Amino acid sequence: MAKKPSTSKSIPKNNPVAKKKPVAKKKPVAKKKPVAKEKADTKVVKKSPNELEILKKSPYLKDSLKNIKDLNLSDLFERNLIKEKESDFEIVLSGQYEKAIELIMEADASNLYPILIGPPGIGKTTLCRYYAQIRSHIIGNSSFEWITFDESTKPAHLIGSFNPAITIQKGFSFDSFNPGPLIRAMLRGGVFLANEVNRATEYTQNSLLEPLEEKTVAIPHIGRIRATSGFFFIGSMNPSELVGTHRLGEALKDRFNVWIELNYPDKKTEMKIIEHNNPYYKIDESLLEKIYLLINRTRTHHQVQIPASLRSGIAMARLVGISQLKKEQPNPNVILREIAKHVLNGSIQPKPGVKPESIIKNIISQVVG
Ligand SMILES: Nc1ncnc2c1ncn2[C@@H]1O[C@H](COP(=O)(O)OP(=O)(O)OP(=O)(O)O)[C@@H](O)[C@H]1O
Ligand SMILES: [Mg+2]
Repeated sequence: MAKKPSTSKSIPKNNPVAKKKPVAKKKPVAKKKPVAKEKADTKVVKKSPNELEILKKSPYLKDSLKNIKDLNLSDLFERNLIKEKESDFEIVLSGQYEKAIELIMEADASNLYPILIGPPGIGKTTLCRYYAQIRSHIIGNSSFEWITFDESTKPAHLIGSFNPAITIQKGFSFDSFNPGPLIRAMLRGGVFLANEVNRATEYTQNSLLEPLEEKTVAIPHIGRIRATSGFFFIGSMNPSELVGTHRLGEALKDRFNVWIELNYPDKKTEMKIIEHNNPYYKIDESLLEKIYLLINRTRTHHQVQIPASLRSGIAMARLVGISQLKKEQPNPNVILREIAKHVLNGSIQPKPGVKPESIIKNIISQVVG
């Protein structure tokens, strides 16, 4: 058990509470107002050791660095550089995810290009990263490059650009060229993930036509390259009716051969995913089920345009887990009610004219009571 910090030690010298005292002193002691203010301040002070304890005991913060000012950034770079074998990770592979991995693998083995379609936060990127890892273990090629498209992505972000200083010295050559992720994946015969490909403008989408059809691409000034055998292109996108997406051009659409639709997972799979992403605390099964139900109700609610994703369930579970560190333990339903309110507020998009608060209140009272 961590020691209970005494109130006086636990308040930093520059604590705003301490700063406020002189203001209170200016008022005559006999008046009631300052006394009330003092009470409110005392309440804040009383709460803070509890908060400090959460920070001290949090497993997410246990490896945080001390004396950070003495460390230089290049040492930190070396320390944090991800080595290939370190980066292996597991995911939940049941239901639709198992099937999707199988389909991606079959497309790869048939020299075809798949595209994953699904709402935000369904696991599209996670699946592709996981597939690249499996592929690296099986065929030994660990090259994996990706880019997330938006309105401002230009073909040069995919292909690369010339370093002006080196180009002045050496002219246009491969030595003065910084290859972009598409060129790196093509040269290495690796996986290229075009994340959110329908957020790209038609101009940028069109720059993908040649690599997809011919497996070649032109690098301005220096020539056209061919992809090394094994080059594999995966697309991912949100359904096109979502705001901020463009239509996937017909020509590009036609070059994706395997369409893999992902939807919100079944209850068992989603609960497993929530647990998997909440490694430090075991959450009571009935509470976990309530978290799932809270998320699930946003997906069937008639006033919700974009419902809560897997990320919201994961966030709720983590907050419920960390609340176990608090000294005062209110009823788990009270904790969940509070947490759900704060997580769901920003993670659902109501239909026009509807306020999220009323939807959330309604869902919480249905599920938690
Ligand atoms: N099968 C899975 N196993 C474990 N965790 C998963 C799985 N699928 C998704 N997740 C978790 O869900 C979260 C969202 O996943 P991800 O970022 O892959 O979704 P996405 O569909 O790419 O979202 P977006 O459309 O917003 O880019 C991540 O925290 C991820 O770790
Ligand atoms: Mg993604």
